[in-house]
Amino acid sequence: MKDRISEIVQEAKSFSINSKEELEAFRLKFLVKKGLVNDLFQEFKSLPPEEKKSLGKELNEFKNEIQNIYNEAEQNFQSEASATKKSVVDLPPFFQELGSRHPINTVIEDMSAIFERLGFSVSDGPEVEDDWHNFSALNFPDNHPARDMQDTFFVDGDHALRTHTSSVQVRLMETQKPPIRAIMPGRVYRNEAISARSNCFFHQVEGLYIDKGVTFADLKQTLYQFVQEFFGKNTEVRFRASYFPFTEPSAEMDIYLGKETESDYRLTKGTGWLEILGCGMVDVNVLENCNIDPNQYTGFAFGMGVDRIAMLKYGVKDLRTFFDNDTRFLNQFSSL
Ligand code: PHE
Repeated sequence: MKDRISEIVQEAKSFSINSKEELEAFRLKFLVKKGLVNDLFQEFKSLPPEEKKSLGKELNEFKNEIQNIYNEAEQNFQSEASATKKSVVDLPPFFQELGSRHPINTVIEDMSAIFERLGFSVSDGPEVEDDWHNFSALNFPDNHPARDMQDTFFVDGDHALRTHTSSVQVRLMETQKPPIRAIMPGRVYRNEAISARSNCFFHQVEGLYIDKGVTFADLKQTLYQFVQEFFGKNTEVRFRASYFPFTEPSAEMDIYLGKETESDYRLTKGTGWLEILGCGMVDVNVLENCNIDPNQYTGFAFGMGVDRIAMLKYGVKDLRTFFDNDTRFLNQFSSL
């Protein structure tokens, strides 16, 4: 048996292992159940006990030696393989430019998140709107200036680019039963001269809450909560009486910026106060137009411009830069 052992060891040592296939051939020849190593172990079983004693150790060493030859060869192949893999990884990487969120969208999302926490859902509607949803249902009189070509982009006799997202409020009230609690962010259009402070399109987030027993106090509390979360805990606000055809009573809300800096002074026209939204209790006529019983339900609505708030938040001086699509400008917001 000793001779057999050294014979097989010799054979294993001189076995050429230069490829994965040869490695596998080695395994099949020596190491599997019916391979040469196991053959010797089978023979060993039938030896007389004295011989077993003297041969056992040798046989085990023999087995380890063959196994080591295999392991070493296998290792070489593996490190070779990972070496080739590595060289692929080492190729100069191809950097793909990542897009980023538009600052106006970031502001809309931040606003929406606050209202969503207060239980408002998010709705949208078409930007080309018919007269009913944009004006008539909202109680605009026939001779209202907004119905003039000077102020509104008409598409045809009955359709215009929506001038506010209040049109979505009408759509919601027509199709849903109260309680309705939703905000409607979106783009709106007005035929205005383009300047650093106004554009012919801009963005609004409007809100609507219709239920039994909704009061002006609910409106104020909702807006206080929003302002504290969005502009900071200690932000001062004030309401001023105002007029909108679709709300009664109506108000505008200002926040106090102060008069310290040149830009505060400019934004607030020297008063320290900046108007950020219009609001009010939904007019009885509007509820009736949308088939909601004003004897059972009341509601509030509010609407704010996103673009001015974004200018304020990011210290942007010219509104137009948001829409020039100049990536040098937009990239500044990529980490938001
Ligand atoms: N729709 C008004 C605007 O565009 C804002 C507004 C919404 C006012 C809801 C009151 C209530 O200016």
